[in-house]
Amino acid sequence: MNLARFPRRRYTPHATAIEPLDNLSAALGGPRIHIKRDDTLGLAAGGNKTRKLEFLVADALAQGADTLITVGAVQSNHCRLTLAAAAREGLKCRLVLEERVPGSYDPAASGNNFLFDLMGVETIKVAPAGTNLDEAMTSIGADLAGQGRRGYVIPGGGSNPLGALGYVACANEIIEQGFEMGLAFDHIVCASGSAGTHAGLLVGLHGRGAGIPLIGVNVRRPRAEQESNVHALAVATAKLLGVPAPERAEVTALDEWVGPGYSLPSDEMVEAVRMLARLEGVLLDPVYTGKAMAGLIGLARRGAFKSGETVLFVHTGGSPALYAYQDVLRS
Ligand SMILES: Cc1ncc(COP(=O)(O)O)c(C=O)c1O
Repeated sequence: MNLARFPRRRYTPHATAIEPLDNLSAALGGPRIHIKRDDTLGLAAGGNKTRKLEFLVADALAQGADTLITVGAVQSNHCRLTLAAAAREGLKCRLVLEERVPGSYDPAASGNNFLFDLMGVETIKVAPAGTNLDEAMTSIGADLAGQGRRGYVIPGGGSNPLGALGYVACANEIIEQGFEMGLAFDHIVCASGSAGTHAGLLVGLHGRGAGIPLIGVNVRRPRAEQESNVHALAVATAKLLGVPAPERAEVTALDEWVGPGYSLPSDEMVEAVRMLARLEGVLLDPVYTGKAMAGLIGLARRGAFKSGETVLFVHTGGSPALYAYQDVLRS
């Protein structure tokens, strides 16, 4: 596996820490839970998209782009980080925000939405759910071309094979850190949304023959659909890298913690966000990591992990969205 063949910008000058969550582990009565602090990655407020953007923005620069174009939900962490990368590189950024919940876009909202304005987004186009988002982005690119500019389209969540390389790199980092720290992980748990994180980790773990099962916790889609998405992206990512692809049977994307729907609060999410804040001083987010951690807690309570096992939770960031959910998260 030779990731060095791919041009890469560097937005985090260090590996993210792996820390024990002793208080959470004690509260759940085992297993031993550790956390991979990808919420501390570089660019504004960190999170998983920073790893994907290292490869995607390097490609945009190689193609002579002056503007990044991307899409996300109204409180999108991916849009916040794409905009931050654009600012860092001296590029412009145009966003398409999909109203996955009708009426949910509020230009005066807090959280990531506030940061879009603060970091100088060039334009925001709000699209109702069901809009052909690829077409919306292509048409922005065509407008820019008409002005003599050059746009670079980044798919939702940065989840194409090039972006997923960021999480292949993360899998390598986890394997090296586990070795250095004397930690043999029995399971790894992550949120599974646009699938790049899940697919990239899977390709990295499989390619290194790590033998660590990976559990994705869905935030939006039914299990079978999400597992197919993750597998298709994993196969394409493995092909790009020239490594063997994981089998479909290696993909697990549980859908029991989606709750009422994408971005909609659930009791389990609220409990997980409060537990991590109060037991560990760690901020999760209401849309992704709160639900993924709810999955880990639920699995631990139902005995899915043995008490002596070591479980790694990949904290993919998102805390700015907490400020847009104060009404459900306050005591
Ligand atoms: C904080 C956070 N965690 C997890 C995810 C899910 O990652 P992916 O889209 O790569 O599946 C996202 C996606 O936007 C996110 O913002």
